[in-house]
This record gives sequence, structure tokens and C-alpha cells, in this order.
Amino acid sequence: MQLQLSTWQEVEGYLANSTGVIVPIGSTEQHGPTGLIGTDTICAEVIARRVGEAVDAMVAPAIAVGMAEHHMAFPGTVTYRPSTLVRVICDYVLSLARHGFQRVLFVNGHGGNIATVNAAFYETYAAAEARAGANARDLRCRLLNWWMSEPVRKLCRELYGDRNGSHAAASEISVTQFAYPDAIKRALLDPPLAPGGGFYGPEDFRRRFPDGRIGSDPSLAAPEHGERLIAAAVEHIAAEYRDFMAAD
Ligand code: NI
Repeated sequence: MQLQLSTWQEVEGYLANSTGVIVPIGSTEQHGPTGLIGTDTICAEVIARRVGEAVDAMVAPAIAVGMAEHHMAFPGTVTYRPSTLVRVICDYVLSLARHGFQRVLFVNGHGGNIATVNAAFYETYAAAEARAGANARDLRCRLLNWWMSEPVRKLCRELYGDRNGSHAAASEISVTQFAYPDAIKRALLDPPLAPGGGFYGPEDFRRRFPDGRIGSDPSLAAPEHGERLIAAAVEHIAAEYRDFMAAD
């Protein structure tokens, strides 16, 4: 079920049977010469919706902008400061909790969100308990990064060897190609395999990674890979959701 395609009565009916909800969270940021600006949000959304279908869970609207400060030297990137994203997540979860949702599973599409999302969970618990004391103790948030599960990593190794990369990765671009075949981009990638490594601020990032990619060769991306990657991610996250709901 998608929250946005439901009526309030349907949500009320759902809450009579389940307190679980899935929230996709991504980013709006450059993904190299062949990657869509919306890559991270598209991946999180497509996977979250399929998990929702697999486990009959409510899927809330994606948080489409994340913490992308380091990509700000490239046009099109939109970011929340970490402190803003903490507030967005806190307000979002407290809204859901107000209606009775208690287990909130975030399906994340962007590595740059991880630290901030985890910080936001503690802000949220503190705010919930400040309002409702012990009555808020059952509120639980979890973060799953779709690309980090073992089945997805294994498939990436099989498909791309050591050329998947860590940004504008062949795998995430494959997922968007499957989801939006009419928006597949082609461009000369020079060098074909982008350099790897770390970075500091946005200008330093662009100096080290001039076309925006890190360690990746997205010329290897293909829509049919995307379909397989989605299936692997969905199977893993669906099992995690069931455990999350069943856990004491
Ligand atoms: Ni990405």
C-alpha cells in the first residue's frame, strides 16, 4: 500500500492490523555523466514499494532530498544541511507516530545520509518520550541501506567485479535504467574507470573527481541488471521487515 494512494479511512484500517511503515529516503545529487540526479531517491523508492507489496506494508512518500553537501559543486544537486535533515526526519516520524505507526523502516539510497539518519533516530526518540514518556517506548526506527546487504554485494561482484564503484555506481544506475528506460543516458566516460578515494569539501570533491564519479565504470550498467539487483534487495529487505515487526 502506498500512503499517497490511500484515503485516511484506509490508513486507519491498516493501523488496526499493523503499526509498520516503510519510508524511502534518497538524495537529489549529481551521479556522473550518465547517472540521473534522482538516482538515490529512485532506487530507494522502487525497492521500498516492492518490499511493501511483498510484505503487505504501508509505504510512505520518499524523502527525496538528503545530505549531499559534498556534491554541491555540481549543478542540480540539492541538499539539506545535516541539522535540517535531522529535523525533517524527526517531524516525519513523529507525524507517523501520532497516528499509531511504531515501527518505521527507512530504506536508504544514499551513503551520505547514514550518519545523519542515525542521529535523527535519537533526536526522534528523545522528542517522542519528552511528549509521551513511557508511552513512546515502543517507537522504533531502523535504517537499511539497499546496496549493503550480502546478496546485493554478491550480485554486484558477479556483474561488475571491482568496477562497481562507490559513487555513480554501475549498480545504482542499472536500477534507474530498469525503472526509467526512457531516461537512459549515454556519454563518453574518460577514463572508463573513475578514480577512487576520499574527499573533503564540495570543491575538493570536484577537483578529485571531475566528472562526479568515484571508482565506478557505469558504462557496465544495464536495465536487466537493475531488475536482478532490485529482486535481490527486495528479498533481503522483506525478510528484515518481517523480523523487525516480529521482534520483541
Ligand atoms: Ni547514489
